Amino acid sequence: MATQAPPLRISVNGHAHDITASLDTPLLYVLRNDLGLNAAKYGCGLGRCGACTVHLDGVAAYACLVTLGEVDGHEVTTLEGIGNAEGLHPLQRAFLDEQAAQCGYCIPGIVMTAAALLDTNPQPTDAEVRTALEGTLCRCGSQGRILRAIRRVIDGDVTGGHIVKDGSRDRPAHQTEQDVRTRDANTVDAFLELGPDGTVTVYSGKVELGTGIATALAQIVADELGAPLDQVRVVMGDTALTPDQGTTAGSKTLQIAGPLLQRAAHAARQVLLERAAARLEVASNDLTIRDGVVRPIDGSNAAIPIGELAGAPF
Ligand code: FES
Repeated sequence: MATQAPPLRISVNGHAHDITASLDTPLLYVLRNDLGLNAAKYGCGLGRCGACTVHLDGVAAYACLVTLGEVDGHEVTTLEGIGNAEGLHPLQRAFLDEQAAQCGYCIPGIVMTAAALLDTNPQPTDAEVRTALEGTLCRCGSQGRILRAIRRVIDGDVTGGHIVKDGSRDRPAHQTEQDVRTRDANTVDAFLELGPDGTVTVYSGKVELGTGIATALAQIVADELGAPLDQVRVVMGDTALTPDQGTTAGSKTLQIAGPLLQRAAHAARQVLLERAAARLEVASNDLTIRDGVVRPIDGSNAAIPIGELAGAPF
């Protein structure tokens, strides 16, 4: 009668787990099948693609090649262990900010590889970053964004969205969990929101798949509204916050969602001009909006930053 091997206790993301499996079982299988940690992906299974990258005592390792037995006495860290919706790792934040993914399958391995590099060398050169990433093959056409995201972390330039406990990760800073947004696609407010600091938030049911639509939609709104592009942020595909605009497919986003956003931004602009006109006691068509500030067309000094006109719905 075969004797069942005793469970092996391993440490993953700071937690002990007793695993009953053959000692030559790939760590990747244990993570995904036994522990439900699915960030590490199965790609090649041969140590060539890096999709399965985790940390073993802080060093990047291919979980498809490391066996359960080899983990004994070592600390395993997966992507789930370096950050989550309540507190993203700076690399996760930067990858989101840069939209550094297309399908996203390879990204956990790339983030883990970059994290291991930055842990040992917080100020790598671009060449060192590229060398570190050589073991992660897929770029999904987003190599430039990946490098930019990593560079932002190196340079300490990670800003942007805020994490709240319900996982609505891109909610603007001035919104609370109690705020309920309208998602009625017949209203301007479903698509646009102006914060008191002048930040314009665009809510898009269409999502970024690596084609750059997040930037394109932000540019449309910035141009139409008269706001600086760096004051426009885009929340995409969050079903708690964005209008239902159906699927993202067929190169239809700019064709369909673009003009819709342009009209919403135009309507919002008119509302802001009228609010400013009431305060300045002039006609709204004597005013314009440039660089996020409402100004008289005649160049006189009166000026109102659009953030001061925020508050009421559009
Ligand atoms: Fe491990 Fe490709 S799945 S390196």
